[in-house]
Amino acid sequence: MTKTLLLDSNYGKYSGLKLNELISSEQIRQRIEEMAAEISEDYKGKTPIMIGVLNGCFVFFADLIREMDVPAEVDFIKISSYANETRTSGTVRLLKDISCDITGRDVIVIEDIIDSGLSIDFLRRRLQDSQAQSVKFAALLMKDYTKLDFEIDYIGFTIPDKFVVGYGLDLAQKMRNLKSIYYLNQEGH
Ligand code: IMP
Ligand code: MG
Repeated sequence: MTKTLLLDSNYGKYSGLKLNELISSEQIRQRIEEMAAEISEDYKGKTPIMIGVLNGCFVFFADLIREMDVPAEVDFIKISSYANETRTSGTVRLLKDISCDITGRDVIVIEDIIDSGLSIDFLRRRLQDSQAQSVKFAALLMKDYTKLDFEIDYIGFTIPDKFVVGYGLDLAQKMRNLKSIYYLNQEGH
């Protein structure tokens, strides 16, 4: 039985829509353990700076870093690409820059989800011009149709082209607190 949530009147125009569970909290926990082990192995003896991409990364980021056993430092960057709640605007805006100095440092960018790839591409270009020692990318989710001209080093799950919420991901800033990842069932089935 798939877990389903029905959105009530608090969700305005989305009320009556259903959310179906796509990835359970237990599956997320297990995969994050694996990702953290892989990252810890790759950065043995180093002190990487993990740069979280706000807002969506915050739950994943907190769980991932707590499973890692290298002395990582943290910082955050905030960008925006979504024009409305479920579609990218096609342009990325920088809302808050990092505050640490990444000169000579090993950087790991932590994203919640890669969809069109615009955001991660924007971040890659920005960091390319920095004097970082190395830059890698980790994303909890990546949509299966996404095409990028560079590699994402750590990917949690590849998912179908559906709008997903929960575990940090939002629909109009809500539902970030759900423990599992759900997809929005636009047809209401
Ligand atoms: P992109 O620039 O199209 O790759 O999208 C990147 C950003 O849009 C992600 O970091 C998310 O914040 C947001 N986003 C993309 N797809 C979804 C989704 O299915 N649910 C919630 N947020 C999403
Ligand atoms: Mg994001």
